[in-house]
Amino acid sequence: MLLLSKLVIFAVIFQKALTFQPEFAEPIVNISVAIGRDATFTCHVKHLGGYRVGWVKADTKAIQAIHDHVITHNPRVTVSHLDVNTWNLHIKAVTEEDRGGFMCQINTDPMKSQIGYLDVVIPPDFVQEETSSDIIVPEGGSVRLVCRARGYPTPTVNWRREDGNEIILKDPSGAKTPVTSFRGEVLKLTKIARNEMGSYLCIASNSVPPSVSKRISLNIHFHPVIHVPNQLVGAPLGTDVQIECHVEASPRSINYWIKDSGKQREMIVSSTKYAVHEYSKSLYEMKMTVIVKKFEKEDIGSYRCIAKNSLGEVDSSIRLYEIPGPTRKVLPPKNTGSDVNEIAKNNKNQLNTGKESHSSPPKNYYSSVDEDDNYGSNEDEDIDGIIDSTNRNNVPIQIHATRKPIHISKVSNGIDSYENNGIMDSRAHQHHWHYVLHCIAFLSSIILSHYSHLIT
Ligand SMILES: *[C@@H]1O[C@H](CO)[C@@H](O)[C@H](O)[C@H]1NC(C)=O
Repeated sequence: MLLLSKLVIFAVIFQKALTFQPEFAEPIVNISVAIGRDATFTCHVKHLGGYRVGWVKADTKAIQAIHDHVITHNPRVTVSHLDVNTWNLHIKAVTEEDRGGFMCQINTDPMKSQIGYLDVVIPPDFVQEETSSDIIVPEGGSVRLVCRARGYPTPTVNWRREDGNEIILKDPSGAKTPVTSFRGEVLKLTKIARNEMGSYLCIASNSVPPSVSKRISLNIHFHPVIHVPNQLVGAPLGTDVQIECHVEASPRSINYWIKDSGKQREMIVSSTKYAVHEYSKSLYEMKMTVIVKKFEKEDIGSYRCIAKNSLGEVDSSIRLYEIPGPTRKVLPPKNTGSDVNEIAKNNKNQLNTGKESHSSPPKNYYSSVDEDDNYGSNEDEDIDGIIDSTNRNNVPIQIHATRKPIHISKVSNGIDSYENNGIMDSRAHQHHWHYVLHCIAFLSSIILSHYSHLIT
């Protein structure tokens, strides 16, 4: 009985073993590899028995290998196996032709197979012949910047500006759309303005590192222009005065200063008298300054800044004139002199309501009416507060004292009105004493009239 049952079990196991067929233990892992790298497919089988494993290229049906033997003449293909269940196909330095399915076959009848796919990816690159290089355009013109990229998968191209500014897209109607980046191989810029000048970067990427970028510098050429913030500059003698011109030019201009004094024209260079500076504000903007040191009578006159580039030349003038300095004196108070101070204070306040403050001048003595400002807007002046030197004569100045106004008419000019301050103050002082004496006299008369009976 026991023996019989053992026999049956043995028979069942034996039967099973006879019917075991080779099969795949797991699917082939797909491979994505950059061109030029090596790739290995592994085919896992079980119960191979006396069967053999072969590799076939799925699309061409070209046999790569059978068991231990390489069949293809492709020298980059080799095979190996770890044990009877693990079979490898190696492809060295893959090319684009290697892309596709590789079939692992077992020569059963019917044949068993499974496929692993090789994807050969290619990092992005630019097609030099079809990609723009640095370019120069006149302002107002148009340009097509092209970055033709290849790679696998097909790369996308993104544009941005190196300086981080926005790219300005314009549709045919002229509507502007500023964008931080633009996608596409061709970037069309139309009606180009000077602020679009700079380096444009195109970046091609497709998930295969490394991404590549190309820098295309867009140079916009235009005639120089000068913007002068202050064309009339007044300063007290003895101070350092700065005058400045703002230049826009591309290509960069050569900038210099000329002093027009009578018939003489003198080029201004840094010296004990002048400090000449030039500051670059952007690719095309420059600020040129001259500091006239210890301003003196001979420095009064016209200063011309000149900017010159290959497209032309432009100049602009600044007139430097004298204004009274901060030299006025306030009379020291004498005993009951508080009113005197009050007068002086009010007097000062009155004059300070003007934009131009003479008693405490700002660091740079700007005062201006932009007479023939040739470019841009004149943002910083309102005419009201400005004392024009040409209008200076015969302006009556009213000075309010605490008690009653003192009218001083026909002050010949601003300078005089200052130098006369001392006189004005002493006059007010006199008035005050008269008033005090008046009061004392008045009070004593009241006292006398009220108390005269007591005295008598
Ligand atoms: C390999 O890729 C093929 C085709 O894209 C897909 O059908 C298959 O499932 C993939 N195999 C594995 C193991 O992911």
